[in-house]
Order: sequence, then structure tokens, then C-alpha cells
Amino acid sequence: MSSAFTVKIASNGQLIEVSPDQSLVEALRAAGFEIQTSCESGLCGTCKTGYLSGEVDHQDFVLEPEEQEKFLTVCISRGLAASKEPLVLDL
Ligand code: FES
Repeated sequence: MSSAFTVKIASNGQLIEVSPDQSLVEALRAAGFEIQTSCESGLCGTCKTGYLSGEVDHQDFVLEPEEQEKFLTVCISRGLAASKEPLVLDL
């Protein structure tokens, strides 16, 4: 069961809530961001997006551990709901 979390857009400070039944990429698209995806299951890396701070629940199978320190796959990975600070996306 997924949990809700909040992301912040670095370029404009916009806060976006991601509900438990929504993926991060769905929430970003609903907010008007165009994110390319392909597999939507954490396998291809097409949706790889940078983040500047915050904690990520990485659920992909494609990023190297060092990549996961700066990028996440927004089709499947999520912010940690327990984190008090929003996940800041490099968008
Ligand atoms: S679309 Fe393939 S990893 Fe996200």
C-alpha cells in the first residue's frame, strides 16, 4: 500500500501532492509537466528525473546506486511519506 507524499518543484517552488493511488508521474502530468515514459515499471530509465533533496523510496530496477543519489524514476519511485521535508525535484 502506497502513501501520500509531497514534492516541490525546484524551479518555481510549486508543491504537488501525490495521493496513495497515484504515481508521481501521474501527479506531475496533472500539474502540467510533460514527462516521457516508456515502461512505467522501473525498467527502462526513460522517466529518470533529477532531485535535489528529500528522501526517495526507489523502486526501479535500472538506476545504479550512485545514480539513485541524484535521480529517481518518477513512473514508479515515490517520496518517503514519513519524511517531513518535501522531495525537491529538479524540474
Ligand atoms: S518509464 Fe521506464 S523506468 Fe520509468
